[in-house]
Amino acid sequence: MVGRGPAAVPHIHQHDAVVVGAGGAGLYAALELKKDLGAESRVAVISKLYPTRSHTGAAQGGVCAALGNTEEDHWQWHWFDTVKGGDYLVDQDAAEIMCRDAAPTIIDLEHLGMPFNRTPEGLIDQRRFGGHTRNQGEAPVRRACYAADRTGHAILQTLYQQCIRREVTFADEFQVLDLVMPDGADGRVSGVIALELATSELHVFLAPVVLFATGGFGKIFQVTSNAHTLTGDGVAIAFRRGLALEDMEMFQFHPTGMYKLGFLLSEAMRGEGGFLVNGQGERFMERYAPTMKDLASRDVVSRSIYQEIAAGRGIGGGDFVHLDVRHLGADVLERKLPDMTGFIRTYFGLDPLHDLVPIQPTAHYAMGGIPTDVDARVLGDGIARRVPGFYAAGECACVSVHGANRLGTNSLLDILVFGRRAGKAMAGDAADLPAPARDLEAEARIAGTLADLLTSDRGERAAVVRDELQVEMFRRCGVYRTGPDLAACRSEVAGLRERARTVRLDDHGSRYNTDLADAIELGFLLDCAEAAVTSAEARTESRGAHARQDFPDRDDVNWMRHSLARRSASGKVDLTYKPVVVTEFQPKPRVY
Ligand code: FUM
Repeated sequence: MVGRGPAAVPHIHQHDAVVVGAGGAGLYAALELKKDLGAESRVAVISKLYPTRSHTGAAQGGVCAALGNTEEDHWQWHWFDTVKGGDYLVDQDAAEIMCRDAAPTIIDLEHLGMPFNRTPEGLIDQRRFGGHTRNQGEAPVRRACYAADRTGHAILQTLYQQCIRREVTFADEFQVLDLVMPDGADGRVSGVIALELATSELHVFLAPVVLFATGGFGKIFQVTSNAHTLTGDGVAIAFRRGLALEDMEMFQFHPTGMYKLGFLLSEAMRGEGGFLVNGQGERFMERYAPTMKDLASRDVVSRSIYQEIAAGRGIGGGDFVHLDVRHLGADVLERKLPDMTGFIRTYFGLDPLHDLVPIQPTAHYAMGGIPTDVDARVLGDGIARRVPGFYAAGECACVSVHGANRLGTNSLLDILVFGRRAGKAMAGDAADLPAPARDLEAEARIAGTLADLLTSDRGERAAVVRDELQVEMFRRCGVYRTGPDLAACRSEVAGLRERARTVRLDDHGSRYNTDLADAIELGFLLDCAEAAVTSAEARTESRGAHARQDFPDRDDVNWMRHSLARRSASGKVDLTYKPVVVTEFQPKPRVY
């Protein structure tokens, strides 16, 4: 079919389990599946990238567990910090599982070969991170286990090597396009339809159990730490299938993005003792978070930066502030933060040993996503209805351990704990599910869409529409929001969706057609943006990362509930809500 557009008859592959996404959640799930289903089992990981380029590899500063290796710590303290960090929108049963499982999971990872930094005694070393407290809000505790400032990279390499050892099958550079749902919208999932990027051929991967571990959607924003590939593919596909998306309005801005570039400068730089200063040379975080200061939770620090800027105290009156790490010295910077030091030298031409570093908040992490139970089983209505055969884990999922604002280092923990649980649940469920069947309606629809796109020579280029989307979302649905801005943003996104219906491709070939990939991903981004802005407009309170200037207070009476956004048959986004699971910690004012 090369050169003739998408094949009418796709390639069919049969597996015992299919995992989409080769980041930490996907790889850990694949390992568990192989262990539980046996060496002969056919476990496939499909990824639009070469696996070790997955975005887990960009995670820098650490993965937390209350090991207490360098000072007293307890998983219950971690649990409280997670709930408070999430501004009480966290489902406490799920967070309890994550915090309890943290230590055994880190030890398992260590046994798989993870090269953690060590204390002089040979234990896993731990560093400070924002929002992690000693007990009920007191000074920061060393809880983040790390491998220099390449923790995610080391995790990814460790898990990938183990997957190779266990003979997991990899389908690299395949873009997932749809779920296989042979019984219609309310039925089971029994595979995925994917595009082979090298050839533009369609493939159907069939299996009784399918995991989405497809990552986040940070590319809906102009300034972001997310790689080009973080386009919300899995989230958008679930949404298009009429499944619920949870808490899509909750998007985290990391305080220390490189000014204008958005690349992440790890919180570990503050964890190791760095601090923020404004245009008057003041350590301004003391004003906003007297106890935790620069290590307050990320939403608090990001808003503080914007408040300094709004008060005219940005650098030179501009829209950024400085990170000061000069006092950390060459040993800490070169040995414990080598990538950060290199980034600053390479991208800014500055030397962090001698220079102040310009930073601004950068869109970093989606707290919301595809709702699941604590074993990664997707809840189609967001509440109770399981979608047989369908699982989600990692950033694309919302088991709701992050609530309205994730704690730094809980993302790597989330992918490990819930990736592993996903693998176990899938292996356990697989035998009880019916044999997978094809979804001919979806195959025909996808083939038609691709044929139309590949021959499209009218309209705008996808990149033009994408750029406008990113600017709009960053400006009006960013750190601070208002009702009128969100309403305007929602209508702008609707206009962009219309324009995206006829995007023009300059490349009509079938070999690594990045124009085609851009057009597909634009559709995913628009779906995610629409769900996010619609949910944000409706939530008339401020909580965690969702800061409404027109509703500045948290409203526990009306809004201790999760948003559920669904695409209705008419194409509209419908919103419903479900209560937060509170088991231990009643909401309290949140001070750092
Ligand atoms: O700042 C960081 O190193 C990021 C960590 C995280 O998002 O958990």
